[in-house]
Amino acid sequence: MMEFRESIVLVTLLLFTVVAAATATATATATATATTATGSASASMPTHEDDESHLHRRSFPKGFIFGAASSAYQYEGAAKEGSKGPSIWDNFTHAHPEKIADGSNGDVAVDQYHRYKEDVHLMKEMGIDAYRFSISWPRILPNGSLSGGINKEGIDYYNNLINELLSQGLQPFVTLFHWDTPQGLDEQYGSFLSPRIVEDYHDYVEVCFREFGDRVKHWITFNEPHVFRLWVCFRHICTGRCSSWEIGRCKNGDSSKEPYIVGHHILLAHDSCGPI
Ligand SMILES: *[C@@H]1O[C@H](CO)[C@@H](O)[C@H](O)[C@H]1NC(C)=O
Ligand SMILES: *[C@@H]1O[C@H](CO)[C@@H](O)[C@H](O)[C@H]1NC(C)=O
Repeated sequence: MMEFRESIVLVTLLLFTVVAAATATATATATATATTATGSASASMPTHEDDESHLHRRSFPKGFIFGAASSAYQYEGAAKEGSKGPSIWDNFTHAHPEKIADGSNGDVAVDQYHRYKEDVHLMKEMGIDAYRFSISWPRILPNGSLSGGINKEGIDYYNNLINELLSQGLQPFVTLFHWDTPQGLDEQYGSFLSPRIVEDYHDYVEVCFREFGDRVKHWITFNEPHVFRLWVCFRHICTGRCSSWEIGRCKNGDSSKEPYIVGHHILLAHDSCGPI
């Protein structure tokens, strides 16, 4: 298990984000497919100062940040624990296991919810400076809206993770949305197809800024918005919406309109974070 988990951290590292300190928008990082990253990999860490065959920190500008990145659905597990509400990925992987390569789901993933201390320890051993993770919106607001209540256990979990990172000298970089829309919002108004998402997103982000903002100084509003609006959730994957002429041949949806509507609402939601 230990080896498996280490290799996962290494694979992630290969996808590592070069997190420029001041950017608030997402750069491509961990690919969010429904399955967790697996496989073996060897990575050359920039800590081996004496070995010429390795990358060196000194080859990079001063202040360059090396980090690893993950997304909540691929890492946390504990999908039904800690009073978390379901996300569209929970619903989708259970409703359509045939659409996932090995029929698996993120119920357990790499169990970071329970094993975050071990994971932070591994990252510290690897000598990286920062960890970019995403917050699961339905772990903070179980039905997606503020009116459904704030989940104290969810807040506690991210506080513990953030504090553990800081105590080990790693900077937290937080992605506020890595595609795991609360299922409640999808059922109530079609999530990002409706302008109502903007206010719910704003409320959610405000909770995160208030609860974690004293220690988290780097925020990413949306992970890969282009991929999300175009492929993952609005063209035959995940919400199963697309036109009948598409590869996925969905029963409902409009591939020539919906990705634009979703993109528009993502931009408005991103903008809504400004004045907080
Ligand atoms: C959620 O999952 C149920 C089955 O578990 C399925 O019938 C339903 O269509 C799914 N809802 C959405 C919006 O995908
Ligand atoms: C969340 O819960 C509140 C309070 O019960 C309710 O008013 C609201 O409609 C719910 N939202 C969703 C998306 O289910």
